[in-house]
Amino acid sequence: MSEFKFSEENEKKFQELLKRYPDRASLSLPSLWMIQYQEGWISEEAMVFLADKLGTSPMDIQGIASFYTMFNLEPIGKYHIQVCKTLSCKLCGSEKIKSHIENKLGVKFGETTKDMKFTLTEVECLGSCGTAPAMSFNDDYVENLTVEKIDELLDTLK
Ligand code: FES
Repeated sequence: MSEFKFSEENEKKFQELLKRYPDRASLSLPSLWMIQYQEGWISEEAMVFLADKLGTSPMDIQGIASFYTMFNLEPIGKYHIQVCKTLSCKLCGSEKIKSHIENKLGVKFGETTKDMKFTLTEVECLGSCGTAPAMSFNDDYVENLTVEKIDELLDTLK
């Protein structure tokens, strides 16, 4: 039996969505998003809970959750910085931006600060190539990145 449970609000949302989807299994992705917004990441316990709820296996849920890179399969920091590593951003200076962020926060990409405040992740194209270099900062995009923009953002949060 899983320790994880949907919050009251998510349980309500789940019940509402059930009426609109053809079967329980097709609720996998929206349910994974609900879990991630609730907990910040998707634990094995949450996968077991969801599998039980959807009448599928934890392995199926794990397969879906691990296929999509936007799902966090381990705890992340309060602020998730995801810098694009694809061509347009690279040509426009994303490497310099990444080094600056790493030096400023004292962790490398792929790591989380000890105080669980910041997690740094490299991602593929964010679909914002026209405003490269770009990153996402939790649910927001920050575009036309410069070292000054990074300083302005991080200095208010440190
Ligand atoms: S290449 Fe970076 S947003 Fe597309």
